[in-house]
Amino acid sequence: HGPGLLDGYGRVARDLRVSLTDRCNLRCTYCMPADGLAWLPTEQTLTDAEVARVIGVAVERLGVTRIRFTGGEPLLRPGLERIVGAAAALRGPGGRPELALTTNGLGLDKRIESLAAAGLDRVNISLDSLDPVRYARLARRDRLHDVLTSIDAVDRVGLRPLKVNAVIMRGENEPDIVPLAEFCLARGHQLRFIEQMPLGPHGEWDRSQMVTAAEILGALGERFALTPLGEPRGAAPAELWAVAADAAQPGGRIGVIASVTNPFCGACDRTRVTADGQVRTCLFSRTETDLRGILRSGGSDDDLVAAWTGAHARKAKAHGIDEPGFVQPQRTMSAIGG
Ligand code: GTP
Ligand code: 5AD
Ligand code: SF4
Repeated sequence: HGPGLLDGYGRVARDLRVSLTDRCNLRCTYCMPADGLAWLPTEQTLTDAEVARVIGVAVERLGVTRIRFTGGEPLLRPGLERIVGAAAALRGPGGRPELALTTNGLGLDKRIESLAAAGLDRVNISLDSLDPVRYARLARRDRLHDVLTSIDAVDRVGLRPLKVNAVIMRGENEPDIVPLAEFCLARGHQLRFIEQMPLGPHGEWDRSQMVTAAEILGALGERFALTPLGEPRGAAPAELWAVAADAAQPGGRIGVIASVTNPFCGACDRTRVTADGQVRTCLFSRTETDLRGILRSGGSDDDLVAAWTGAHARKAKAHGIDEPGFVQPQRTMSAIGG
């Protein structure tokens, strides 16, 4: 076994995020434009067998221990259960990889049992508002009810921990901060608030408009007694806070993902593959490394390993959002995979 996905700053990527489609059935304002985004043609998207081969190389040859399926919306991929099943059959030096899904939740209620049976360990569900009007404005689709139904279904199947992701947008869903926390605490789910990153429609992100982790914690502090858990964060994006129980709700944990004001790039352990088979060593990479070409020209597993490790040897030190020359990636979050 080689050194795996080692970069020039001593970081090793063991967490693979695989985007299974760039398509989505929502149009969240921070993630993609309302319309006019051209989907990848199907023939440019990796097939189920190609995805299985890529993740096989990652686990068996490159030391990947955790795989997260993302999109777009990964539930739009008909073969998701098959892909999860193939991933669950892999064995790396540390055993079977942990398998997780990040989803908007639409239709998850109908598939959670088959996904769990295929070997899925955990799901993270995006939920930015509990108010149907605000939800529909942020997601540009009136689908709050579907998400809540799916959260109930995950509860019933008992897949834990369930994490709920909320991006907070100024002037949009700040009134949801406390209700979302109450909702998740009551159900024992881990809520994470996320600072908006410049990965949505081009030219719309504004550092001075972004709701910061400090502001979110300020709003929470007016309602809850929070204590920093102070666990070493390592490569986990969320900083965790313990919330004390009170007469109105049980205690629990709430996370804040401060990717902009407190980046975790120094401990980054991530590698990404887009739906069209391109390695991105960072959400904010300016360059990609083509695995699909290798797959489709009869390349060997050694060729895939060489291309992938070469990409990580060139991985940038950090996202550089605050650097003067920062340029947002060409692809939006929907086409990178969160
Ligand atoms: P777990 O904590 O293991 O459940 O996963 P996660 O939080 O990494 O996954 P999830 O897909 O739920 O992502 C939550 C948020 O973390 C996303 O909205 C991103 O904003 C942020 N995030 C995920 N990966 C990265 C990353 O590599 N870099 C940065 N800066 N942010 C990331
Ligand atoms: N900034 C921060 N998080 C984002 N997500 C999508 N776009 C952005 C952005 N611009 C989140 C989604 C989902 C996760 C995968 O990424 O809300 O929870
Ligand atoms: Fe890693 Fe890039 Fe995310 Fe920083 S922004 S944590 S380097 S993927």
